[in-house]
Formats: sequence, C-alpha cells, structure tokens
Amino acid sequence: MTLSRSITQVACACLAIAISVTPEAQAQTRSAGLLNFSSDGSLVACSNRDSGSVTIMSWPGLTVLHETPVGSHPEGVAWIGSSKNVACCVYGDDKVVILNGETGQIAESIDVFDEPYGVVSNSNGTSLFVTLEYPGQLLKINSESGTVDASWSAGHMPRGLAISADNSFLLVTEYLTSRLLKVSATDGKIEQSWDGASTDNLCRQVVLAPGDQKAYFTHIRSRVAAAHGNGSIFPYASVARLTGEKAGTRLRVPMDSLRGARVTANPWDCDVSADGKQLAVVFAGTNDLYLCRIVGDDFVELDYDGGVRLGNNPRAVRFAPDGKSVVIYNALDFEVVEYSLADGNPKARVIVTKNPLGEELLLGKQLFYTALQPMSSRNWISCSSCHPDGDADGRTWQQPEGLRSTQPLAGLSWTHPVHWSADRDEVQDFEHTVRGKLMQGQGLLKGSLPEALAAPLSGRSKALDAMAAYTNSHKFPMSPHAKNGLSDAAKRGKELFFSNATKCATCHSGPVFSDSQPKSVSEFVKHDVGTGEDDPTELMSHAYDTPTLLGVYRSAPYLHHGKAATLEELLTTANKGDKHGTTSQLTESEVADLVEFLKALPYEDPEPAAKAAGLKQVLK
Ligand code: HEC
Ligand code: HEC
Repeated sequence: MTLSRSITQVACACLAIAISVTPEAQAQTRSAGLLNFSSDGSLVACSNRDSGSVTIMSWPGLTVLHETPVGSHPEGVAWIGSSKNVACCVYGDDKVVILNGETGQIAESIDVFDEPYGVVSNSNGTSLFVTLEYPGQLLKINSESGTVDASWSAGHMPRGLAISADNSFLLVTEYLTSRLLKVSATDGKIEQSWDGASTDNLCRQVVLAPGDQKAYFTHIRSRVAAAHGNGSIFPYASVARLTGEKAGTRLRVPMDSLRGARVTANPWDCDVSADGKQLAVVFAGTNDLYLCRIVGDDFVELDYDGGVRLGNNPRAVRFAPDGKSVVIYNALDFEVVEYSLADGNPKARVIVTKNPLGEELLLGKQLFYTALQPMSSRNWISCSSCHPDGDADGRTWQQPEGLRSTQPLAGLSWTHPVHWSADRDEVQDFEHTVRGKLMQGQGLLKGSLPEALAAPLSGRSKALDAMAAYTNSHKFPMSPHAKNGLSDAAKRGKELFFSNATKCATCHSGPVFSDSQPKSVSEFVKHDVGTGEDDPTELMSHAYDTPTLLGVYRSAPYLHHGKAATLEELLTTANKGDKHGTTSQLTESEVADLVEFLKALPYEDPEPAAKAAGLKQVLK
C-alpha cells in the first residue's frame, strides 16, 4: 500500500563514513539501553516493547538464539558484569527479570514499585542499578539474591542510566527535563547536577564516554510558546563535562543544523565509540543515523561525519565490539540491523520478533511516530513528539484557542469526545492537525477536508482509521499506590469523593470517573468549574469536558491550563469559590485523604465495569 510504503522505505542513501575506531575489549554494559552487547561481545540482547519479550542474538552475524516472553512493555536491558546473564526492566509489569542469555531461560524475577526503565550492573556483576520513572527512584539490587538493598530518590521521572568505570557513581537523566544527575553508587547521594534549558524534554538514555570525562545524551526541546508552524520541537544531543576546566558545565548541540539545513526529529539514543572519537545518534522520527566526529574543543563539540537512512522508528544504537559497524534497533520493523561504517551498507539484518500488533495497529503506530510524509512536510514533528508512547509530555502548550496541557492517551477509547473542550468527536479529526500549521503534512485522506469537525471522517481512509485505532489503543495504567488494595487514608478519601459534601462523583461518575460520553456533538456534556478565567488567552467557552481521573497519580500538572501543580493544589488554592466540587470545608487531613484516593486510581481494571455499565468504547 502506497502510504505504508512511503514511510517503510529502508532506502540506503549511504554516505561514506570515515572509520576511526580502534577495536578494544568492551566493559560490562555501562549504559542502559534497549539493545546491548555482552562484555565479550559474543551476544546481543534487545527488548521488544510491543511483543513483551527479550531477544538474544549471537554476534558477529546476528543470529537469533532465543526470544523469551518477559511481560508487558520491557525497556532497558543490561548484561550483568562479565556474565552471560542479562537483566531487563519490565516497565508495564513493575519487575526486573534476569535471563540466562545462553539458554534464554528466566532465572529470576524481582518485583519493584513502579515503571522500571533503565538498568546497569557494576563491573563484577554483584549489583544492579535500576531507575524507576515513577515515583522517581534509583534502586540498588543484589543480583544474586534478587533483594532490593537500597532505594534512593533520584529526581523527577528518571530514565537514562550509566555507571562509571570505577563503579563509584551513576549518571541519571530526567525524562521530562533532561536534567543530568551524578549519584553516588554507595549511598545514593546526589553529588552534582547539570540542568538543561526549561524547554528540554524527552531524554531517555545517557552514555559515558571512555575515561568518564564526558557524558552524552539526546533529547528534544518543546517550545510551548511557539506559534504554530514556527517550529516548536527541536532535536538535540547534549554533552555534560564531568572533569577538567569545564567540569560541571553542559552544552546543547542542535542536531537540525549539524548537516546543513537537513531536519531530523525525535533523537532517541546515542553511543560513543570505544576510542571516544565518534558519537552515533539515531532519530526515531526521521529514521536517520548520524555519525558525528567528537571535536570537543572550546567552540565545537560535534561535527557531522556521515549518515545512513534507517528502517522504521530506530530506538537504539550501539557500536559493535570491533568498532567496524553499528547495530541498530528499528523498533517498528521489529528488526535489528548491522550497518558497516566503511560504506553504510547493511551487513546483517534479523527479525527479532513477529509483528504483535497486526497490520492496522502497526500502520497506525508508524504514522503516529513518523515525522516524514504523509504526516509532516518539514520533518521536525510527529504525534509522538508530544504524546511519547501515549503518555503526556508534561507540557502546557500555548494553542491558538488558549493554554492546553497535553493529556495522556491512556484509556482514550472510553473517554470520547476528545480535547479539553470536547471539540473533536473522533480521532480521525486529527487529520486537521496533520494538514494544519503544526505538521503541514499531505494528510491521510484524499480530497479536501470538511471545515465542520462534526462531519464524520471515520471509514474514509484506511490510514486515517489506522492512526485512530492506534491512538485509541492505549490502556489505562493500574495505580501502583493500590497494589495492596486501598490504604485506610484512601478509603476515607473514597467516602469523601462519593459524598454529597464534595459532589466530586456527580461529574466524575461511573467506571471511568467521567460523565462525558460519545454522543452527537450538540449533546456533549461540559462543565464550567471556574478554571476558564485563569487564562486571559482563552478563546473558547469556559466549560470543559470532565476528564477521567484514572491515572492522575502520574499526570501532573493538572487542569486544561496546567495551573495546578499537585492534586492538593487542585483541591485547595486552585478551587476558588467551590466551583469545582465543594472543598473549602475540608480539613487538611481530609484533603490528604482525598488525594490518597485520587492517587490510588485505578485500583481495579475499569474495563469490565465500563462494559457492564454499557459505556460506549470507540476503537477506531
Ligand atoms: C505540539 C504537541 C502536540 C502534537 C505534535 C500532537 N499533539 Fe495531540 N495534544 C497536544 C495537546 C497540548 C493536547 C490537548 C489539547 C486540547 O485538549 O485542546 C492534545 C490532545 C490530543 C488528544 C486528546 C486526548 C484526550 O484525552 O482528549 C488526542 C487524541 C491527540 N492529541 C492525538 C494526537 C495525534 C493523533 C497527533 C498527531 C497527528 C497529535 N496529537 C499531535 C499536543 C500535541
Ligand atoms: C461540576 C462538575 C465537576 C465536579 C463536581 C468536580 N469536577 Fe473535577 N473536573 C471537572 C472538569 C470539567 C474538569 C476539567 C477542568 C479544567 O481542566 O479546567 C475537572 C478536572 C479535575 C481534575 C484534573 C484532572 C486532570 O487530568 O488534569 C481532577 C484531579 C479533578 N477534577 C478532581 C475532582 C475532585 C476530587 C472533585 C470533588 C472535590 C471534583 N473534581 C469535582 C468537573 C467536575
């Protein structure tokens, strides 16, 4: 099909790349990533997020040895010391799994609180370190006994993780700020931090250069105040100096001006060559690999040194142990490919897992992640730049109609209509976003677009329906705060929530805690809860669609304009005149109880109850 072909091209517009890498024995996995080599270089592991599995390959040659199911949404994989055991963070199931890389068998499964993302081991393999994106912790785990020896606070939503060669410290990156933290591996003390610009966002991985003098990490910049079409998302590689005269400083290298005016989008991972002379960066939005020469003088950090057009949605890159190639994980081709650094040609290519999504969801996901046509003409933005993996980007955008904070897409199929102002009744209406000033894409529908948003667009384009199906496929997360049922405080909060004194449940009603249901546009239920006046740029009515409360434990800031930083604030200072439920009579401890209840949502799977209650689910 034409549409899918135009974005699945694996054209190899290869450029000659200078090799300047000396083979060198690898250490243990020093940087968390979705793909990593064992210490002797003979094995490669990658995690398959959509399939819920880990694949082990032999190297050289890339032959699949095993694919082992590990659970929902695996992320970081790391080889443990010089062993053939590999640890994997199972983000969706809150566990760290240890596999025997030679047999593919699971040796151990360790429960953690929530959202494990990055993992590394110390060099003798006795300890594992793991970032928990929520609630922002770094764990030290005994890799033999599987016990959690320590749990340290490590910033807001930490993801990336790397360990120093002498095992004395760890580097952690915050996902939504790109702040880099240096943390003691002995007592978890934060020893140093490198702040990014306030616009920096979506920083997933960090790599330490050989010698531990510098660290590299990729991220984007979300310019929330930029008018549509003037550019709001930019790709960066940042370098933090750990030693020397400039110790403590960091530099942000714009990746969209590194190779003339060629635009790239959504840098996802990077790696430094063993000799410290090259940085490889993959861009998941434009399917590019950039090889950069590390200059590192006072003025220039990186020079463009060559590039390769990759497959779909590359999310991981590692230099091969012999320094002659790079190995890439093309996530939406379910494929690992080794590209020669001499000529940029693929040397080995292997399917690591079968497409678990089916044809329609895969097409929808490819469209959602790509910054190429037919989604975007200028290639700097994709849906996933603001809705990464269906989560919110933690930002409030200045839209033409007023301030709008990005909503998580979790449970979207149950919470139509969409948008804070309920101005869209189906996801297919995002054809307006694709063709509009923000993305300026060709679009997924033939012909002109009806102005009226109420005009049904579903069923008119296979690709647009696929994008809607993928966007609607995100499930509600289960709250980690209710793993052992509701706490006493949450039970007291539940009573308050359903009481006449607060009236919360009059609008946040039913199994998905919202009275908004898919109906005809004129019948949409909206409420003015006194929040519209807070934003002088608001151009729409002050009545908003009641949002679901399932998952609010992790989705701050709150309200359409993002002006409530915490749930406490939402119930107190942000609720002037009791227009948003009745809360002024609540004591401090009652507010705390109500917050505990909100944080525990959902404490049971809402889907069976939603089905039983006859709520309408919109799958496409
Ligand atoms: C520049 C960042 C950005 C980009 C790019 C973007 N969105 Fe959004 N998205 C937002 C913001 C902000 C909101 C909230 C806007 C509102 O409610 O008026 C939102 C809301 C949504 C919602 C409504 C969720 C709900 O619970 O009601 C959906 C669905 C959605 N976006 C899908 C998409 C799709 C599909 C694309 C790509 C075609 C896309 N978005 C591109 C920022 C973005
Ligand atoms: C009259 C209907 C109504 C009542 C009563 C009500 N809400 Fe809301 N709630 C809304 C609407 C509408 C919004 C969105 C307002 C906005 O974004 O400006 C909202 C937003 C929220 C949010 C923010 C969700 C997010 O994702 O940002 C939370 C949390 C919340 N309400 C909790 C409560 C609690 C707790 C109570 C009881 C004290 C309550 N609400 C009472 C209609 C209501």
